[in-house]
Amino acid sequence: MRILVTGGAGYIGSVVTEELLNDGHQVVVYDNLTKGHRAAVVPGAQCVHADLGDGQRLRQTLKHEQIEAVIHMAAYSLVGESSMNPAKYYQNNVTTGLVLLDAMLESGVKKLVFSSTAATYGEPKQQPIDESALTNPTNPYGETKLAFERAMAWYDSAYGFRYASLRYFNAAGATMRCGEDHDPESHLIPIALQVATEAREYVEIFGDDYPTPDGTCVRDYIHVVDLARAHILALGELEKGSQIFNLGCGGDGYSVRQVIDTVQEVTGKEIPTRVGPRRAGDPSTLIASSEKIKAELGWQPKYQDLRVIVESAWQWTLANPRGYSD
Ligand SMILES: NC(=O)c1ccc[n+]([C@@H]2O[C@H](COP(=O)([O-])OP(=O)(O)OC[C@H]3O[C@@H](n4cnc5c(N)ncnc54)[C@H](O)[C@@H]3O)[C@@H](O)[C@H]2O)c1
Repeated sequence: MRILVTGGAGYIGSVVTEELLNDGHQVVVYDNLTKGHRAAVVPGAQCVHADLGDGQRLRQTLKHEQIEAVIHMAAYSLVGESSMNPAKYYQNNVTTGLVLLDAMLESGVKKLVFSSTAATYGEPKQQPIDESALTNPTNPYGETKLAFERAMAWYDSAYGFRYASLRYFNAAGATMRCGEDHDPESHLIPIALQVATEAREYVEIFGDDYPTPDGTCVRDYIHVVDLARAHILALGELEKGSQIFNLGCGGDGYSVRQVIDTVQEVTGKEIPTRVGPRRAGDPSTLIASSEKIKAELGWQPKYQDLRVIVESAWQWTLANPRGYSD
């Protein structure tokens, strides 16, 4: 297929692009490079350097490149920033998202896989979180992702759009070529690896008095290749109808301390930590269930072991100590 990957110069989008190309698809990356990197765009993919809000450029791209389906990864995704500046998140994740939906509608492209987030659920009591859990986002990031999901549902019922929305927590790990390079970096594994390379002094732990086995928060980590495969699998099954799938690591998740210990083991470096106060709105445990996507699409994660995930991210960090060159 000829597939447009929005945000294909970003962390997960670059790996989705890599996997699509490996499968023999043709890929056009559409990215404004505000957060992504030119060097992350995988050779073999065409790159359109433009903003999703530019409807004309988007329509032109969909038409000229004869795009058949879209994988939509472009968004802002910093939870804290979204609470400080919700306007920025509504503008990029909702308003700009609607420009994409309308350009697709005008161009007759009606297949869409959306990278949503498990932040749409807020703080459910029951873990692991399955798709029947109530959506109740506790920050504008989750709220804007949910708003876009709802728009897709209405475009489905009115215009026959077919979409899959994937809700997950923490993408992690790397391929040989593509890894995580965010500025600012807010994710635990790359932060701990920055300490290992002495780019940062210590890891701050936000609270160690949670009701978890070691007192630190428990979270879900999914290897970025497993995530990319889920996006591609969902794309191939859109004919069956629109769907929402959760993606989780399986098992009980990993505590912040377990992640830091694993980074120490893998890198052989000491990772100093400092315990700070809890962050507002941080639940003790967040784990998503993957049972539905396993049962219905046969998704099987290959890299569930945290050590394997950290090892892949460490190899990428060693090869790219300052991140992407461009
Ligand atoms: N990283 C995670 O752990 C995680 C977890 C759950 C969901 N997600 C979702 O997955 C997607 C990708 O996440 P990521 O970590 O790869 O993010 P990222 O910031 O690395 O990539 C996003 C890309 O989108 C581009 N972009 C943003 N707004 C754009 C616009 N208006 N026009 C064109 N390009 C634009 C950025 O330049 C960037 O390259 C996001 O939608 C995010 O909400 C990520």
